[in-house]
Amino acid sequence: MLFIERFQRKTRENPQGHMTAIGHRAGPAARHLPDPRSKAPDPGFPLIDGPHYYDVLAALHEILTPEWYFEIGTNRGGSLKVCPGKFVAIDPEFIFKTFAMGPRAEGHFFQLTSDDFFAQDFLGRTGIRPALGFLDGMHLFEFLLRDFIAFERRAAPGAMAILHDCLPFDQAMTEREWDGRKTRLWTGDVWKTLQILMRHRPDLQFDMLDAWPTGLVLVRGLDPENRVLPEVYDAVVAEFMATDIGRFGPEAYYGQFEIQSSFSAIEAMRAKGRAGPAAIQTET
Ligand SMILES: C[S@@+](CC[C@H](N)C(=O)[O-])C[C@H]1O[C@@H](n2cnc3c(N)ncnc32)[C@H](O)[C@@H]1O
Repeated sequence: MLFIERFQRKTRENPQGHMTAIGHRAGPAARHLPDPRSKAPDPGFPLIDGPHYYDVLAALHEILTPEWYFEIGTNRGGSLKVCPGKFVAIDPEFIFKTFAMGPRAEGHFFQLTSDDFFAQDFLGRTGIRPALGFLDGMHLFEFLLRDFIAFERRAAPGAMAILHDCLPFDQAMTEREWDGRKTRLWTGDVWKTLQILMRHRPDLQFDMLDAWPTGLVLVRGLDPENRVLPEVYDAVVAEFMATDIGRFGPEAYYGQFEIQSSFSAIEAMRAKGRAGPAAIQTET
């Protein structure tokens, strides 16, 4: 009975295959998604019920076709698998069981923290300038801020950084220490990094997407010459260390931007992409 109901729901809401604008949960990873109605958001928080973020990442690779992809936080390789080309992947503890290089021409793995990786300046020494970076390492805002600063410095001008977990749907998942008894998902307090970027880098363009389960934020127009963030780093870390989302106010945070449909954003990018991938990375 349960199986039939699940099957009917899948064929109705989760058609398999490429991500298309059919229903709200389409895409190859959709079969793993729980019903978004099974966990109501806390008051003031949004319902994030778009396609699985792996499907959105896959679509971004397809549209942007970066020569080099950069990833902090690879874990089991789920997000790396959807990168079809050359990559640099960082994690202090890779846990690979099924990841295979396949036809990818080149890939560099660094089993290091991102701070240690950047201290070695591999990107500077090799001249590799990634046009797309997924920053999904340590889920504490000061770590993500450092990752953004260091990535931007070595990225291709106009590159896109993708931030994960900046759209939490309850307070428990935003605690700085993960308590597995209170929450299965842990975003940590990386929402603060987005808040800092929006405040101090008005030159960047932000798109907040409803990718399940805790959003993806596309940050476009990276500028390797910009030094604003390193200058304000100590002050903003001290300021934001003293707050949490309850005190800041989820309404105050979420009141500043629209959360877009991933489908619509991808469709818009595909349309622009017909004019060339570079146009998408620097335009809104
Ligand atoms: C949420 S997992 C990444 C998931 C993966 N991106 C995916 O979507 O399938 C976070 C990863 O960050 C790694 N990590 C923790 N601290 C880190 C650090 N200081 N630098 C880089 N990666 C770190 C962890 O080892 C873990 O594998």
